[in-house]
Amino acid sequence: MVGPRTLAAAALVLLAVAWHAGHQRLVRANGDRAEGFVWQLPQGFPAPRVPPDNPMTPVKVELGRRLFHDPRLSGDGTLACVSCHDPARAFTDGRARALGIQDNLHPRSAMSLTNVAYNATLGWDDPGLTRLEDQALVPLLNTRPPEMGVAGREDEVLARFAGDRRYRALFTEAFPKDDHPVTLRNVTYALAAFERTLISGNSPYDRWAYGGEVAALDPEARAGARLFFSRRLNCFRCHAGFNFSGPVVYEGSAGPRPLFHNTGLYDEDGRGAYPAPNTGVHRHSGRAADMGKFRAPTLRNIALTAPYMHDGSIPTLAAVLDHYAAGGRARSAGPHAPAATDDDLTDPLMAGFKLTPDERRHLVAFLHALTDDSFVRQAQETGQP
Ligand code: HEC
Ligand code: HEC
Repeated sequence: MVGPRTLAAAALVLLAVAWHAGHQRLVRANGDRAEGFVWQLPQGFPAPRVPPDNPMTPVKVELGRRLFHDPRLSGDGTLACVSCHDPARAFTDGRARALGIQDNLHPRSAMSLTNVAYNATLGWDDPGLTRLEDQALVPLLNTRPPEMGVAGREDEVLARFAGDRRYRALFTEAFPKDDHPVTLRNVTYALAAFERTLISGNSPYDRWAYGGEVAALDPEARAGARLFFSRRLNCFRCHAGFNFSGPVVYEGSAGPRPLFHNTGLYDEDGRGAYPAPNTGVHRHSGRAADMGKFRAPTLRNIALTAPYMHDGSIPTLAAVLDHYAAGGRARSAGPHAPAATDDDLTDPLMAGFKLTPDERRHLVAFLHALTDDSFVRQAQETGQP
């Protein structure tokens, strides 16, 4: 005779078997499980957030790395991601404004990819762009202006990789559940996986602040750090946290919570207008209150990424400090100065301040101490084929 207890136990076993089978199916459906990938994280850094449909695997990162450096990914075969995001310059291009295929001038400056995995939003001013997978389509397909010029030539571009034995093998291994893995979607997924590995946290400042290396930061840079974190200058209020940046997301964090600021760079009309098309969040929302609002980028490796701001209009770090000291350069030097002091678009934290020449030097020294040479060296080495 079978008692209720035995029945219950049998039911449990059945449930467990069913769950296990279901789980196996799930894992197999996912195919590309996060197998063998280990984050190399600096002390105190959280693990980046990874979309559930694009788990990290070493082979996917390797595929993304190759694609990132390969000019065959552009329509006419002349430009790679790395052309505008050069590791030696912390993944920027040294230009005020980026240059797409056939010398198409982009209205904005190429951004650093330092710690890009943590950014709550991507791009200078787009509140809706939150996934690296989606961002990668922008340079590929953009037509205003063309950056990599893939729009309308998708099949031709993909055929180059499908026809390459080594790439075919990498795509197959990185996306094992796909019958035809060489797709634009998988290109962007692999690029995103690679970009998430671009993590930098070994600057002299880090070694001094977190590594206990008292000598890593010289006294001038230490004085600069005190200024940076002071209520007088307020830099840390917008360039915040471990990434010296606007809002971050990571594994287990809330968000994303986008945040953008007007730092008073322009005032075209006495009411705070920025020159089109670079009107910031306003160009996405159409709201007057969003005029001139941009994301506060990371200041890590900032000494390598001149010229500065969304349009590269400030050539040096010292000149950036002058802009902040003036409470936004539009207030002191714009065509409508000093009337512009009353505009309510410029962020209230842009109150302006006076710096002695020594203080200015100290602050620049501090910003230089955010340069992570090991990151740059490694990024250059992994750029080798
Ligand atoms: C023609 C130069 C150019 C090329 C080529 C290029 N980019 Fe960019 N990249 C830019 C510019 C300019 C921006 C800023 C765009 C904006 O916000 O308007 C940017 C921004 C980004 C960002 C956002 C970074 C952040 O902190 O939010 C990522 C990520 C990125 N690019 C990845 C890529 C990838 C991947 C490729 C190759 C598929 C690529 N880029 C090719 C110029 C370029
Ligand atoms: C109100 C918020 C806010 C404050 C305060 C602030 N920043 Fe910024 N910072 C931003 C934003 C937003 C940008 C991008 C602006 C743009 O491109 O239009 C930026 C850009 C920069 C850049 C150029 C980054 C790049 O990649 O081109 C540097 C350098 C910089 N800030 C340093 C500082 C320093 C130093 C201080 C303190 C003196 C400071 N910031 C205070 C919000 C702020």
